[in-house]
This record gives sequence, C-alpha cells and structure tokens, in this order.
Amino acid sequence: MNLKDLSAHVATEFQKHYGRAPRWIVAAPGRVNVIGEHTDYNDGFVLPMAIEFYSVMAADRPVDGKNVITLHSTLEKEVATIDLVAPVKPGAPKWGNYPRGVVAGFLARGVNPGGLDVLLHSTVPLGSGLSSSAALEVCTATLIEAVTGKTIDPIEKALLCQKAEHDFANVPCGIMDQFISALGREGHLLLLDCRTRKTELVPMNDPSVALLIVNTNVKHELGSGEYAKRRAECEQAATILGVKSLRDATADQLEKAKSKMSEVVYRRARHVIGEIERTTHAAEGIRNSNWPTVGQLMYASHYALRDDYEVSCKELDVVVEIAESIGYKGGVYGCRMTGGGFGGCCVALVKASAVDAITKKIATDYKAKTGIEAAIFASHPAAGATIIKG
Ligand code: GLA
Repeated sequence: MNLKDLSAHVATEFQKHYGRAPRWIVAAPGRVNVIGEHTDYNDGFVLPMAIEFYSVMAADRPVDGKNVITLHSTLEKEVATIDLVAPVKPGAPKWGNYPRGVVAGFLARGVNPGGLDVLLHSTVPLGSGLSSSAALEVCTATLIEAVTGKTIDPIEKALLCQKAEHDFANVPCGIMDQFISALGREGHLLLLDCRTRKTELVPMNDPSVALLIVNTNVKHELGSGEYAKRRAECEQAATILGVKSLRDATADQLEKAKSKMSEVVYRRARHVIGEIERTTHAAEGIRNSNWPTVGQLMYASHYALRDDYEVSCKELDVVVEIAESIGYKGGVYGCRMTGGGFGGCCVALVKASAVDAITKKIATDYKAKTGIEAAIFASHPAAGATIIKG
C-alpha cells in the first residue's frame, strides 16, 4: 500500500474507532541496511535506506479533555495509555514502551503534547529486522511535533528516539535505525558517519538494479542479550587496542594485538574493522554504479557477520546460499543478512530485469530447504518521517 492509501486507511480506522475524523496523521518508515552492520555503536559508517513500509498514526484531542494519551493499535489487542499527569515510566503492554519513551523524552525537553486519542497502524513487519520499533518511535516523535507545532532538529529527534529505546525497551541500540527513519530521502541511501553524525545522501536510482528484501520469517529478538554482549566485546577490543572505539583501529593494529585478546573478541573486532571499510567502499561503488563490486562487498559482509560476529542464523545463511547459486549470471550481484541478526531479513542487490525470476527461485528453494514461507519484496528508497495531515 502506498503512503497515500495507507493514510486514508488509517483515517478510516480512526473514524471507526473514535467516531470522528482525525486531526493529525503522521508516518515514519522502517529501513533496510544495505551495508554497515554492527558498526554504528563502534562509531563507524552505515548505509541504510528507508523503505516503503511505515508506522502511521492518526490522532485527535480526546473529547473528555483528559491529559492522557490513548493508543489503539490495529495490530495489538491491548490498548496502551500514557498518563501525562504522573511521571512516564515503562509498563504494560510492552509495545507501548516505545511511544512512552518518546513522550518522556519530549517532556524532559519541556514539550508536553497534551492528551491525545491515537490510532496506530504499521506495515513494517514486526520482528523482521526492518526497524519496526524505530519507525514507531520516530512516528510518535513526529506526531508530537505536529501536535505541538514544535519541530526539533532531526538529529536531536533521532537521538531522543534512540534514548527511548535504551531506557524504555532496554535495547542498547546504536543510532542507525532512528536516523534513517527520521532523515531518509526518496531515491537515496544515507551514508551516516556515526561518530560525527555527518550524513551524505547517496543516490540509488539506477533503473537497471533493484534491492530485494527477503524476510526469512524467523523472528529476531534483540532484547535477548546477544546484542549487548556484542557491544561489550567490541568495547573490550577497543580497550585492549588502546583506542576510543573500533573506528580508530586498523586491521594491522588488530593483527599485532591478536595475542592480547581472546579469540572471540579478536573475531568481533575483525568484523567491525572490515565492515567499516566495506561500507565506505560500497558507497563509492554505488556512486559509480559499480554493482558487481557492491555485490561482492555485501557477500563479504555476510560471511563476516556469520563467521566472525556470529549474528546470522541457518535461515539467513540459506537465503544467501540460494542467492549465490543463482549467481551473477542469474542476475544476483550480492546478498547479505541485514539488521541486528538472529533472524529477520536478507537484502539482495539484483538486476531489475531478473526480479521476478529471482523472487520465484528464492521462494521455492527457501521453502524446500527450511519448510518456511519467505516474504520477498522490492522497495525503492523512501522518504523519512512526514506529517501527512495537520
Ligand atoms: C539493530 C540496532 C542498530 C544496529 C543494528 C546492527 O538494528 O538497532 O542500531 O546496531 O542492529 O547493525
């Protein structure tokens, strides 16, 4: 569903639920990361794009004038409420903690959205590594901007949403997901330097290629502790290397210090140092439409995530193996897992003319090898968060 139809749908749902038309409608997209995985919290580079899947909110002031935000989701049974009179704290239902954290962030800045009736709908597949949570956070922030008329700098907005995820969802995530959801630009990837927060839009509009997203339909769960473990291992490697973060380390330095660290920590650092380099090279390759090079970098990224960083899983590896078997001749340049890992999606760079054949082949072989139905779709790089009405 395109954004126009989607917002019409959400307006209808709001009307059905609350018996009147919404005054505000806002949306924020999910994302796919083309390359630069587990580099953001190491001060490195990432290269994501916003996708045409959104978290959308329609809202109005409550008729009873109460200072409460009520959130109805089309996807969840339980209603989430945020009482603005009491201090905002995490609570049940769990999904409400993302908006709660964002509201708390605005309140801390002295911005009070006031009571709201909200209807939420999302087309970002949940738990698929396409940042449904960042989309929900950035959507909430955008709604508060629309309602209060107080816009904040998009970088501040992304940071506020990241803090919401840290403090209210207990996930020590990096900055990539919230940044791309807030700052995405149609037709572009975003090369983000996570240290300086400098961004560069990289055009991705060559009609001869497409990005295919393959959802393994194996749920990924970042809260499980593995993500935090990886972060700690990276910090340990940086300390041993005597650098502020792995962004400052070279492959040479790492080799020289190999004996000073555990084999696992060494491998974690090897992935991160290599991946930061691969990301800037891939951006260069995309600028020059050098698709075979970009594809090779994507495969290399996957192998490092699988073998050194150990955040892949059987199903993600199966998708990459199928992509390899189709190969360059069949129209696949490269493929890798995307996002935090342990399930979720792969992203493949393919020839646009071969999209249908590749989709069919991946779907059939994946089903045969895993018994699971994959969901496969192409997305153009979409725009970041927007106020649709209000
Ligand atoms: C999750 C986090 C991001 C990033 C990726 C891995 O999506 O939210 O900050 O660390 O994992 O690249």
